[in-house]
Amino acid sequence: MLTLRSCLILDLYLICAMNLTYHISLFPELIRVQDAFLATAFLATAFLATAFLATAFLATVFLTAAFLATVLAVLVLVAAALTAVVFAGVAFFTAVFFAALKPGDRILGMGLAQGGHLTHGYHANISGRYYEGFSYGVNPDGFLDYEEIRKQALELRPQLIIAGASAYPRVIDFEAFADIARECEAHLLVDMAHIAGLVAAKVHPSPVPHANFVTSTTHKTLRGPRGGLILCREPFAKKINSAVFPGIQGGPLMHVIAAKAVCLKEAGTEEFRCYQLQVVKNASVLGEVLKNHGFTLVSGGTDNHLVLLDLRSKGITGCAAELMLDDVGITVNKNMVAGDTQPPQVTSGVRIGTPVVTTRGMREEEMERIGEAVHFVLSYPGDQGKLEEARRIVQKLCVDFPVYAG
Ligand SMILES: Cc1ncc(COP(=O)(O)O)c(C=O)c1O
Repeated sequence: MLTLRSCLILDLYLICAMNLTYHISLFPELIRVQDAFLATAFLATAFLATAFLATAFLATVFLTAAFLATVLAVLVLVAAALTAVVFAGVAFFTAVFFAALKPGDRILGMGLAQGGHLTHGYHANISGRYYEGFSYGVNPDGFLDYEEIRKQALELRPQLIIAGASAYPRVIDFEAFADIARECEAHLLVDMAHIAGLVAAKVHPSPVPHANFVTSTTHKTLRGPRGGLILCREPFAKKINSAVFPGIQGGPLMHVIAAKAVCLKEAGTEEFRCYQLQVVKNASVLGEVLKNHGFTLVSGGTDNHLVLLDLRSKGITGCAAELMLDDVGITVNKNMVAGDTQPPQVTSGVRIGTPVVTTRGMREEEMERIGEAVHFVLSYPGDQGKLEEARRIVQKLCVDFPVYAG
């Protein structure tokens, strides 16, 4: 049976399961328990207990919030006035929409098939049901074309432009987005869910100086608990607060807030910066190795934590590749690529991320081995010898780089 210990997670959804395991590994006494919920509860309780003991006068809730705000200030902020803490991705979007838009207003976001996210105006999501969603995409080379986006925005005159992606391997120019938003008098929302860890580590430019709203999940490259946060400029502070409560959310999840505080404190350290630099280096090496094995990379490479493979040249769908790799212990996400003719459940690509294997301590040399294993599986479908070889590579890496000792 495959477990977290015996497979290589290169996917960007299960990342949060591995984040939790990483935090468990910081508390050896919990390793035997191996219960994710207990681990979260432990972190939360430990933090809240410390907070409570630290002062007899302040309520624990206040202290937690103050600590979180301080850490956030250290983390990214240049000019944002407020932080709000929300449950997850859809919640933070709904809060911003609630604060900045009226039902029926226009949203322009990156298309789902182009690397965007459901919440950026997709018709089946609340963002595309209650608002009028339009999408921009990437050019035939796989890059955002800011001049095209500008033309589209001036024609559509949306009230909100969303920058940010789920599967875009290149640096995003937030300043260019801000210029476009200014020109067509739209609000700019940057969803940095995927790259927040890179931004905190200054490995990717920060959107904070350029956007009215910046949202993020805390469970992707930030390597924290499942949840979200919103940063905004001062004039929107009151509206965002009211949009979160009583607008869309009930009482705060204090255990998650405590875990977010721990995650953000970590994100301010030099160790975290080194980790993110390695995440990016690993993705770049893995991309090059795959390219040398004949794979097509969308945009020809990567600047961040992920590689997007277009498998059409290999004659395999994303869905089939996901299952084939899973069979040898490699976990990836199927993903649409620009111009995809397959439906979203099938897709023509896979998205491969390096944050988790980097947390396990893997570096460039191991990326070469992983690239080779992926090549054996996807370039020689049905070849049992190659499959066995790929399995051996995966198992050796898992033994050499344990999730936690013991
Ligand atoms: C760019 C982006 N924004 C938002 C989200 C939503 O996050 P959640 O999983 O908390 O709903 C995701 C999740 O994949 C994402 O990729």
